[in-house]
Amino acid sequence: MPHRPYEIDVMISAKTIAARIEELSREIEAEFSDTDKIVVVGLLRGSFVFIADIVRELDIGVEVDFLEASSYGDGMESSREVRILKDIRGQIEGRDVLVVEDIVDTGYTLDHVINLLESRKPRKLRTIALLDKPSRRETGVRADWIGFEIPDEFVVGYGIDFAQRNRNLPFIGKVRFTDDQ
Ligand code: PRP
Repeated sequence: MPHRPYEIDVMISAKTIAARIEELSREIEAEFSDTDKIVVVGLLRGSFVFIADIVRELDIGVEVDFLEASSYGDGMESSREVRILKDIRGQIEGRDVLVVEDIVDTGYTLDHVINLLESRKPRKLRTIALLDKPSRRETGVRADWIGFEIPDEFVVGYGIDFAQRNRNLPFIGKVRFTDDQ
């Protein structure tokens, strides 16, 4: 499917993201200071860059696992139906778990994942999202830690795609369509 032409403007620089990850990591370390090792669960695919940066900043024991849930496909609108495409490999009963999400939009994905993982009886389950678009929320979910609250802009980069492109940008960019002005 052909896409409308667009350009990408920097919204949050790589440097700003790195500084925020440092701050958040200190808070996460404090929250899990009574634990030998936590299980960090990255939600594929969007969180792969964020989880890589956050686990390298955390000065605590971590085990890394991944879960893939999809509500968007290649479109721009949430289908509100969350599918689990790949489950985590490890057991989390009695463990301390940190779920890492790139962006919370309607909240259906994070809400579904929290319910799923809570049903497996972890000792503690916490969530972190790099980006939060509160104006788009359709559920009551909120991540325990949020990197940046953003307005309802179409963002890409740092793991986030537009039709599977632009995930490899080192910053969060804002999509600007060039055929509508
Ligand atoms: C995107 C994003 C979040 C979710 C947020 O994932 O990575 O996981 O949507 O939307 P929500 O709050 O409205 O549920 P997507 O399904 O596009 O998969 P991807 O991470 O593989 O790009």
